Amino acid sequence: AFPTRVLARLGVRILIATCAAGGIASAAAPGTFMVFRDHLNYQGSNPLAGPHDARWGERFVDMSEAYDPQLRALARRAARTCRLKSFEGVYVALLGPSYETPAEILALKKLGADAVGMSTVPEVLTARQAGLRVLAIATISNRAAGISKTPLSHKEVLQVGRSAGRNLASLLGYLLPRLKDQ
Ligand code: HPA
Repeated sequence: AFPTRVLARLGVRILIATCAAGGIASAAAPGTFMVFRDHLNYQGSNPLAGPHDARWGERFVDMSEAYDPQLRALARRAARTCRLKSFEGVYVALLGPSYETPAEILALKKLGADAVGMSTVPEVLTARQAGLRVLAIATISNRAAGISKTPLSHKEVLQVGRSAGRNLASLLGYLLPRLKDQ
C-alpha cells in the first residue's frame, strides 16, 4: 500500500494492479483473466486505519465504484483483441498465507465472490484514497479449493502464472499505449 502513496505523490494518475487468484466462478478457469468489477475485503485489516495524514487523501473514502468502468472496458477489449479469455467479476481478498478450505470457498461463493486471492485490495484502497483511477486484473492460476478435485499446490499456481504471464504481457502491451486516450 505504501508504494501506491509514493506513486500518487509522484503524479501517477492510473494504477494497474495485477495478481494471481483462485477461480470460484465457472468462467474462472486456469489461464483466464478476471477484470475486477468490485471486491470483498476479508483480510481483517485496512491500510487506511490508524493515524491519518491529509496528504494521502480523505479519511473516509468512497468505494462505490473503485474499479474504473472505462478502464475495465479497455481491458476487456485488449483481451478480445489478443484472443484471451476474460470476464468481469468480484475478487475476495483473504489474509492467507494458507489457501482456503472448501467450506470457506463455498461460503465466499454465496457472498458473491468470483475469484479469491491474498493481495491487491490494500493497494487499491490507498490508490482510491489518493484519487487514482484503478484497473485490476487477476490471472486465474487454479480452481479454488473444493472446486478443484485435486489439492492446491503453490507449484501449480507458479506454473500457470508463468505461462499466463506471457499472455498478460500481450494484454498490457495493447492496453498501455491506449491509456493516453483515457
Ligand atoms: N487462493 C488464494 N490465493 C490464491 C489462490 C487461491 O486459490 N490462487 C492464487 N492465489
